[in-house]
Amino acid sequence: MDHCSYCYTNLVTYFVLFSILCCQHLSNVLVKVEARAHYHKKKGEKSSTTIAPSSPSYAPVPSSDAPDPSPTQQGPCIFDVTSYGAVGDGATDDTAAFQAAWKAACAVESSVIVVPSDGKFMITSSIFSGPCKPGLVLQIDGVLMPPEGPNCWPKSDSKKQWLVFYRLDGFTMNGTGTIEGNGHKWWELPCKPHRGPHGSTLPGPCDSPAMIRFFLSNNTRLIGLRIQNSPQFHIKFDGCDGVHIDKLQINSPENSPNTDGIHIGDTKNVGIYNSMIANGDDCISIGPGCSEVDIQGVVCDHSHGISIGSLGVHNSRSCVSNITVRGALIKNSDNGVRIKTWQGGSGSVSDISFQDIQMENTTNSIIIDQYYCLTKECRNQTSAVYLSGVSYNNIKGTYNNVRSAPIHFACSDAVPCTNITMSEVELLPAQGALVDNPFCWNAYGIQQTLTIPPIDCLQDGMPLSLGEAVAGC
Ligand SMILES: *[C@@H]1O[C@H](CO)[C@@H](O)[C@H](O)[C@H]1NC(C)=O
Ligand SMILES: *[C@@H]1O[C@H](CO)[C@@H](O)[C@H](O)[C@H]1NC(C)=O
Ligand SMILES: *[C@@H]1O[C@H](CO)[C@@H](O)[C@H](O)[C@H]1NC(C)=O
Ligand SMILES: *[C@@H]1O[C@H](CO)[C@@H](O)[C@H](O)[C@H]1NC(C)=O
Ligand SMILES: *[C@@H]1O[C@H](CO)[C@@H](O)[C@H](O)[C@H]1NC(C)=O
Ligand SMILES: *[C@@H]1O[C@H](CO)[C@@H](O)[C@H](O)[C@H]1NC(C)=O
Repeated sequence: MDHCSYCYTNLVTYFVLFSILCCQHLSNVLVKVEARAHYHKKKGEKSSTTIAPSSPSYAPVPSSDAPDPSPTQQGPCIFDVTSYGAVGDGATDDTAAFQAAWKAACAVESSVIVVPSDGKFMITSSIFSGPCKPGLVLQIDGVLMPPEGPNCWPKSDSKKQWLVFYRLDGFTMNGTGTIEGNGHKWWELPCKPHRGPHGSTLPGPCDSPAMIRFFLSNNTRLIGLRIQNSPQFHIKFDGCDGVHIDKLQINSPENSPNTDGIHIGDTKNVGIYNSMIANGDDCISIGPGCSEVDIQGVVCDHSHGISIGSLGVHNSRSCVSNITVRGALIKNSDNGVRIKTWQGGSGSVSDISFQDIQMENTTNSIIIDQYYCLTKECRNQTSAVYLSGVSYNNIKGTYNNVRSAPIHFACSDAVPCTNITMSEVELLPAQGALVDNPFCWNAYGIQQTLTIPPIDCLQDGMPLSLGEAVAGC
């Protein structure tokens, strides 16, 4: 029997039972089902082939560990986007259908919005807002994508973001499908780096949408999806508490500008695990206001590495603490593990650990840059974000020595870096000669074992003065 009619039958037969077991706002939802029936009849869609109009499927799926579900162990309520009129032919605008499915699912506990595997769904820039009932899942098994390029972007839509998830708690996005960003035409805008004549950058509109943005949302889970070709950042978290990412695959070309893989800002309690990120900018970037971040088992390919910063822009105060990166492979990358701050900022970066990291053909494998500047016109200032307690442990592999030494500590003149610990750091050239002149300025700390290449500039103890600008966080 058809999935939808099965559910409908159940709905009618066990109305009372279901309203207790599964779907709380059932009466509400039934009204919507009726409304949709009219919609479908008008459009001559598949409603005629089933007893019931295509409907959200409130099928209680017994979980395998609970063969006899009791009222408290019900499976999820399924909301298939095609039941809300989504077509999934890669051309039709399915935005309204996704919004309708979201609205219905949001009102029901433990619901799963399903984007089926046989469809390619196009939706325009959308905000999916909470609060929603607990346990909401967006399961993407098919392809979900935005309109192609700036010319197809609706004029009234924000060009800064595509999918926005707002004010959610405990939301999960999973599935075996792909979120395709259709980024190519955005990367080619004349304003993008190196797109003008002779590698210049031309004026012109430059806003490009971040693909997936979580804003003021807590306890988000992102599992198993493939996310690719973003016009700008792939995934972005702002003002969130609780992020769990596992087994994501992020993919964009090496020369796609500003396509950070995962960016977190003002966000704490983050775990990023077992994910592959290949892109054209930072693999993972950690902005101001982040703490308790645990990154394990990540592979970064042709990216700009894992980066803390940039921090302290426009004399701002930035606080970042308790970041751990371990078990990573960083290959063919500009930068390996990087901390970058602007002159003139304040605040601090502390309790940072990079360990068990394999580098393969990575430029600037280990880098602290407190003179970060995009224009080369930044003046040295008397304050800086204070870096303290950064450890590099068991970092091995090869570097690409085209531009600079694999270890580069450029700490601020005004505020030295302190308590840098290095042990088992062994970096060899991928090809060509050893670079044995690591750059090191105003850095204090210890080498627990001799590094390769050797560095002789880490100063013992603490500096006499930490400068005026060291503000606690
Ligand atoms: C998220 O958690 C913060 C506390 O960290 C809380 O103030 C906020 O209301 C929560 N937001 C949501 C949408 O649950
Ligand atoms: C996504 O989550 C739903 C609800 O928990 C689950 O039924 C489904 O199996 C998950 N899909 C994948 C691919 O993990
Ligand atoms: C550091 O963050 C981890 C999570 O990554 C957390 O378990 C630990 O308690 C934090 N430590 C401190 C001192 O806050
Ligand atoms: C080394 O990495 C650079 C990018 O930083 C890349 O262009 C080059 O092809 C890589 N070399 C090899 C041998 O993979
Ligand atoms: C800033 O200070 C650094 C370290 O002392 C120095 O190398 C650099 O030339 C200075 N830059 C400017 C613009 O003064
Ligand atoms: C130095 O940093 C380490 C973490 O890398 C921390 O455990 C230790 O307490 C710090 N020591 C001082 C004196 O701040």
